[in-house]
Amino acid sequence: MTPQNLIDAEAFARRRLPKSIYDYYRSGAWDEISLGRNREAYGELELHPRVLVDVSKRDRSTTLLGTATSMPILAAPTAFHRLAHPDGEAATARALADLNTIMVLSSLSTTTVEEVTAAGGPVWFQLYANRDAAITRALVDRVVAAGCKAIMLTADTPVWGVRERDVRNGFHLPPGVGAANLANLDPEGEARSRQGSGMGQAFDWMLHPALSWKELESICAWSPVPVLLKGLCRGDDAARAIDSGCAGVVVSNHGGRQLDTVPATISVLPEVVEAVAGRGLVLVDGGVRRGTDVLKAIALGADAVQIGRPQLWGLACDGERGVRGIFEHLDHELDLAMALTGCPSLEAISADLVRRR
Ligand code: FNR
Ligand code: LAC
Repeated sequence: MTPQNLIDAEAFARRRLPKSIYDYYRSGAWDEISLGRNREAYGELELHPRVLVDVSKRDRSTTLLGTATSMPILAAPTAFHRLAHPDGEAATARALADLNTIMVLSSLSTTTVEEVTAAGGPVWFQLYANRDAAITRALVDRVVAAGCKAIMLTADTPVWGVRERDVRNGFHLPPGVGAANLANLDPEGEARSRQGSGMGQAFDWMLHPALSWKELESICAWSPVPVLLKGLCRGDDAARAIDSGCAGVVVSNHGGRQLDTVPATISVLPEVVEAVAGRGLVLVDGGVRRGTDVLKAIALGADAVQIGRPQLWGLACDGERGVRGIFEHLDHELDLAMALTGCPSLEAISADLVRRR
């Protein structure tokens, strides 16, 4: 039996994964209210389709910051793929290369960036800025040399959110699995990943609680590739990111894993789109599980969406094939949703197709 959709895939993965790993992937912070709202909010939006449009040919390809993709669906940066499958991020990268869509590689990748870019697909790199600016810069130099075409700096994680299941389970990395791109840059810190329990204790060393706009401006100035700011939910922050030199922003609440009770990302997307006003790229993630969700995000002004957990469910179920299946399925649902709303192209997905219930 194979999963019928992205929601099904989670149940399949749950049966295959050890409890502490499944819990780490699925968890949200505290009461997991934002985790739930990210999804519920898509259900609150209705589609208002147009009929009798020629939809016999549909095009879902697009170009984001000069990177061509076959679909407006990216792999959100997610940590520790080798907890789901021995091939880790290399398997994910092969699946996405095959489909020609963008993989955003996490700073906490368990496979080296060189192995990931060797798959030949488009790769961007998610950055957790280090307290030591020289370490941050060495990491960016390395990933750009390896072929990453953009940097996505995560802003919503000055400290780790508390996922209580991880604390209860004593979640930490098993021997042989580690942060492959950080080991040589900060060996002491990397070694600490195996101590303590939950993200708060085991991975504290790699966050930068003093990160500020000044440092963002500096990173944008020296980065050889475009920089996106990920993890904001306010229009004023988005405008400031663009003014600071960012090429785009990612509306995200980290999949409900950081601050609980923040709004669903789809509900704050319009505010961010308005503030960015066409001056940069706008992506959104959190709770995207159906083709209709992708269509709604694009209608409300996103250039593309990212999916986080579903790629891990695919990886856990069937490695490279499983990840490919997840993206193919969501892309297929988007294709159908476009046909059924009268949209032959992404440009045709207009705001009037969506209304609040
Ligand atoms: C994440 N996310 C994340 N974000 C980031 O900037 N760097 C990271 O290393 C990770 N790691 C990570 C691990 C796991 C297990 C999850 C579930 C999430 C957040 C991720 O990029 C994205 O914002 C959310 O996952 C989107 O929500 P959905 O699609 O999972 O609902
Ligand atoms: C997480 C980190 C790694 O959400 O971003 O677990």
